[in-house]
Amino acid sequence: MDKHPFWSALASAAVPYIPGEQPRDRVFIKLNTNENPYGPSPRISADLLAKEPFQLYPEPTCYHLRKVIAEGYGLTEDEVFAGNGSDEVLGFAFGAFGDENHPFAFPDITYSFYPVWTDFWRTIPVQIVPLREDLSIDLKSFPDCDGVSVIANPNAPTGIALSAQVLKDYLAEHPNRLLIVDEAYVDFGAESMVPYIHEFPNLLVVQTFSKSRALAGLRLGFAMGQKELIDALIRIKDSFNSYTVSRLTQVCGALSFEDSAYFNETVSRIMHTREQAKADLRSLGFQVTDSKANFLWVLHPSVSGSDLYTALREEGILVRHFSAPALTDYLRITVGTDEEMEALKKALIKILEKTS
Ligand SMILES: Cc1ncc(COP(=O)(O)O)c(C=O)c1O
Repeated sequence: MDKHPFWSALASAAVPYIPGEQPRDRVFIKLNTNENPYGPSPRISADLLAKEPFQLYPEPTCYHLRKVIAEGYGLTEDEVFAGNGSDEVLGFAFGAFGDENHPFAFPDITYSFYPVWTDFWRTIPVQIVPLREDLSIDLKSFPDCDGVSVIANPNAPTGIALSAQVLKDYLAEHPNRLLIVDEAYVDFGAESMVPYIHEFPNLLVVQTFSKSRALAGLRLGFAMGQKELIDALIRIKDSFNSYTVSRLTQVCGALSFEDSAYFNETVSRIMHTREQAKADLRSLGFQVTDSKANFLWVLHPSVSGSDLYTALREEGILVRHFSAPALTDYLRITVGTDEEMEALKKALIKILEKTS
């Protein structure tokens, strides 16, 4: 625990999340933070800046944006909550639904922000559930008591997805547990739980504009669930900052959401590139999970994750390496353009030749 005489107990005890590197000094082929290589919808253009009355605060509830999302998904506006990136939405959800009487459970290998939030809100007991040997999430090992289960689907960093049927069975069997499904990567080939929101009062789905809609730099995420769940998120947000989503972000988010042609085209390009990259990496001897996300989770039997990370960096390619013991052998590689993945393959051939 770090300490300073002016720091509160909260600041002293915080164990912050460490985001992936955003290099300032050098241009890399950047395959380390699961950004989308194609950029956002072309409907987002510079003239939007001239049209917005930036002297005015944004609409605090993001009404128009929520309406567009709700219409797109067959929900009502009061079943949608928008926030400054899905990190903020998830962070609020941990505070809205977790305390000593509402313990959390999530897998041992998953998005590494989850334990940061349970620590930050301070009173949330946590049960960590091991993945199966094949690295899939085992919902049967989650506790039965009242509380909250959190999963990313597809999971990060493995990319492995559970089917909607498995999640529906879980929701029906555990009406006493809230299930938060973090669908940051769902658009790249997994089944969304949004169609089941009206069926299950114990389901909260969180999505982001950062990945499939290529708006990571704008910061926009949203949650969907029955009104009572959304109301709890609003209570937390309005006790913290009423204006978390800027005017520009609200406008761009709605434009991007409405452009389904561009969305479908770029998402299917990324999925196509991913399948090719899976095959290429397997042909180089890598073990590659069956990722349904815009990244690959790979392990080479003879070269360590950290050696590969360093060697790729020297070749001008940035990927993500995690130092946690369960993850250290692996690399997480974002799916870029076909050209970027070709450059990755060439660099890996060179590195593997040198080490054999
Ligand atoms: C599983 C998962 N959930 C949520 C997020 C947060 O995304 P954002 O805050 O950009 O919406 C990420 C970011 O990489 C992620 O991997």
